[in-house]
Amino acid sequence: MIEFLVNGRIEKVDQVDPNLSILEWLRTKMRLTGTKEGCASGDCGACTVITGTPDHQGNIRYEAINSCISLVGSLHGKELITVEAFQQETGHPVQRGMMEKHGAQCGFCTPGIVMSLIALHANKEATGQGDDQLLEALSGNLCRCTGYRPIMAAGRQALVQEWTPEADHPAAALSSGTGSPELSAIHRDSITLTAPDGPRYDSPVSLEELRELRRAFPDSRLVAGSTDLALEITQQLKTLDHLISVERVAELKAYAREGDELVLGAAATYQQFHKALCDLWPAFDAMLERLGSLQIRNRGTVGGNIANASPIGDMPPALIALDATLVLDGPDGERRLPVEDFFHGYKQTDLKAGEFIHSVRVPVPKTHEQLYIYKISKRLDDDISAVLGAFRLTVEDGVVANCRLAFGGMAATPARAPKAEAALTGQPWNDDSVTAAMTALAGDFTPMSDVRASATYRQQVAGNLLRRALLSSGANPGEPLMVTDYA
Ligand SMILES: Cc1cc2nc3c(=O)[nH]c(=O)nc-3n(C[C@H](O)[C@H](O)[C@H](O)COP(=O)(O)OP(=O)(O)OC[C@H]3O[C@@H](n4cnc5c(N)ncnc54)[C@H](O)[C@@H]3O)c2cc1C
Ligand code: FES
Ligand code: FES
Repeated sequence: MIEFLVNGRIEKVDQVDPNLSILEWLRTKMRLTGTKEGCASGDCGACTVITGTPDHQGNIRYEAINSCISLVGSLHGKELITVEAFQQETGHPVQRGMMEKHGAQCGFCTPGIVMSLIALHANKEATGQGDDQLLEALSGNLCRCTGYRPIMAAGRQALVQEWTPEADHPAAALSSGTGSPELSAIHRDSITLTAPDGPRYDSPVSLEELRELRRAFPDSRLVAGSTDLALEITQQLKTLDHLISVERVAELKAYAREGDELVLGAAATYQQFHKALCDLWPAFDAMLERLGSLQIRNRGTVGGNIANASPIGDMPPALIALDATLVLDGPDGERRLPVEDFFHGYKQTDLKAGEFIHSVRVPVPKTHEQLYIYKISKRLDDDISAVLGAFRLTVEDGVVANCRLAFGGMAATPARAPKAEAALTGQPWNDDSVTAAMTALAGDFTPMSDVRASATYRQQVAGNLLRRALLSSGANPGEPLMVTDYA
């Protein structure tokens, strides 16, 4: 059985198919139909709701998430706030802003937009409240008829107004940030959710329990934020028989500096580790801001991104460039291997039966090291990469002493470019060497053409990214940033 709060009221759920998304549960079991289904794939944001997740200090993290690709079992011990919580006449500043600035036309996207803006309003002291934050909050919400100018105006107006709900308001806890007594009364132990006809969802809270479950059920599927996995349910219409969630295992959620490494627990979300990683390697900042939408980054994890083994996942090339190490755990104990060696082929990995990713160990920068990460996608926000280039270089006295050049989108797995690396290593960090490396790069990959990009485009843009790194490094002052002719 799982327990959670919905708009301030305790819900206990048992005997439900764990393949059910929060969205389906809300609409079909609770008849709370204000939350809409647009795409069922995390792309449009019509299904946005807010979850409040308690941390160990008793503070609650309120986040906008896509309910269409979040599973009902993930709600245990959390607070769920839907648009129905804001039906009262007094209204929230976001609702008033949307009305007064004409932020809705057909209204289908509106509940999701309202929830994204309310989540930003609740977090505004921590995140800031400028246009950058508004754009980030709306990065996962598509509106096809109003246009974003009035929606931005609504957000600007709302963010400078305070919201002081009555104590009995169904979302009152949003303004206090500490949660209600009912929420803290919910137990924090492991749970199992089962459907009458079989499918099962386990959510252990300790590493030992997770190992035990994996030992007992090696064919079970692991789930973290479900931003990849749930698409198998909503798009491929699969029923997954047994899911084991890593989301509540404390050791897997942790991220901390250990000596000369930053250790990211596999179940840490992008939003959680963003600052710690970017403080060390600022090049991640721009990339992480473009990884999915805010709703996706609130749920998606580094372990899920690596285990998913997509050739166009954004973290793996960057981690390969950094020579990060994976810690795998399972029935036979712990083992380590370079992230680079984890990928065997398209969606094939080194994970053995019953194993799971425990964490990834990211080295801290050494003297003279530089990191560049460039993501190329058709759309700026919430789009998967066509190509991602990640370059770690050690430049001493103007010479490239070492380099690791890794790419996503160029092969069946994220991979390094050995010929380009050889062409650059030991050479001056200048235009001639980079041009030679770009030529060598043509021998490293035979990219494919697909909906995201043609093979020719991929090959050309991958080389251009190397030149972009040179230009960004300031090694060639005065060079124009846009360079297209390198043949
Ligand atoms: C709209 C949308 C936009 C997206 N945009 C991007 C993008 O721009 N860039 C990008 O890289 N990705 C993107 N993604 C993909 C996805 O969000 C990421 O890959 C995310 O990091 C997956 O993490 P998760 O926790 O949600 O994984 P889940 O979906 O929970 O799991 C993914 C896979 O990993 C396995 N797994 C999970 N945790 C572990 C573990 N600890 N050990 C072993 N196996 C494990 C699961 O069994 C499953 O096979 C997007 C997805 C959506 C829906
Ligand atoms: S329904 Fe489109 S993101 Fe959920
Ligand atoms: S108001 Fe129609 S899609 Fe946004």
